[in-house]
Amino acid sequence: MLENTFNTQNEMGFYYPGRILSGAGTRNKIPELIRGQGPAVVVTDSLFAADPLLDDINPVRRITVAEEPNETTLLSTIVEMPKDTAWVIAVGGGSTIDTAKAIAAYLRFGKLRIRDESAAVGAPHLIAAPTTAGSGSETSRFFIMSDKDNGKKVSIRSWANVPELAVLDPYFLANSPASTIALGAFDAFVHLWETFVCRNERSPFTDAYCLSGLPQILRAIHKLQNDNLTLEDILALQQASSSGGVAISNVRTGMVHTLGEALSSQLKIAHPASLFVFFPVVLRSYASEVQDRVTQLDIVTQSVMPEFGPVTIETLCGFWNDVFEQFNLMADIQDLIATSSICTDELLNTIARDTVLAKENPIDLKDKDIQWITETSLKRFTVSLQSDLVAAMQN
Ligand SMILES: [Fe+2]
Repeated sequence: MLENTFNTQNEMGFYYPGRILSGAGTRNKIPELIRGQGPAVVVTDSLFAADPLLDDINPVRRITVAEEPNETTLLSTIVEMPKDTAWVIAVGGGSTIDTAKAIAAYLRFGKLRIRDESAAVGAPHLIAAPTTAGSGSETSRFFIMSDKDNGKKVSIRSWANVPELAVLDPYFLANSPASTIALGAFDAFVHLWETFVCRNERSPFTDAYCLSGLPQILRAIHKLQNDNLTLEDILALQQASSSGGVAISNVRTGMVHTLGEALSSQLKIAHPASLFVFFPVVLRSYASEVQDRVTQLDIVTQSVMPEFGPVTIETLCGFWNDVFEQFNLMADIQDLIATSSICTDELLNTIARDTVLAKENPIDLKDKDIQWITETSLKRFTVSLQSDLVAAMQN
């Protein structure tokens, strides 16, 4: 009923139809929970395909995911699903959870492209145990797949996609490379940040998630930088990531995501890296309009992490810049963009399809502003642009 309700500053809703179980060892609750309750299908990735947890779950089928889901592969996988599947259990990162969500959607509703269906009732039940902290897919109402005809990414949005149970166990990230943890944390940070500064759709309900999660991410990644990240810090990252999934499901992501996703449609770039390309220029573009938000975040951050110092747009940009430098993520992005051919006109056409962006961005946006932000961001990475306008600007 409320699928298509948008918040205004006079009418605010909030919804989350799932449960979260978090803590060290909580993964072992999954086999207990499903034992004797019908056949289970496990969706996982190669990193966790041999994890002892899967044997304990004892699934009738194991599906190993190697990449973001695409519609054709999903449909052929689903044909082979047992009709009496009672549980779909994801143990993996964002693409793995998205695949499990797609399978569950089809088994429940007979199609992948669901939209207005309410929270699912009955089998198959969907459980997500994320092995990365960032996408928030374990708590969000979205999954992304590529279209079977044109290969373009399609975002499927429905409350029926939210896993009934998200299990956050730091065990899954204990051996993750620092760069992987940093990338995921940055994605979660941007989810919470963009929810926090969204002009109309934000609410006191989502502010609570943002003001809790943003300082936790800064604190954990600061410890990662100093090589003293603990399991408690990893758990804090997982909780912040799941908070981000709930937050973006109730509000929306903002300009950093819109621009990053447009870039991803031309370039094989990791999602968090695509966000980083635009992050500082976007934040600086609306800095003057979000000062009250920054002040609130500063107050909370000082209590959780005084060593961060004052929170400003500049210190946030500087912090993430240092993180990307330290873990060699910056060099990777520079190499990728410098060796790619990016068509800015096509990029701007893709961005223009986001009709809600102008309404929810902290400041009014005109096409020329988006163009300036896009081109300035890309120029930082010495890209070879194909736009005539950029050539003119450079001369
Ligand atoms: Fe994201």
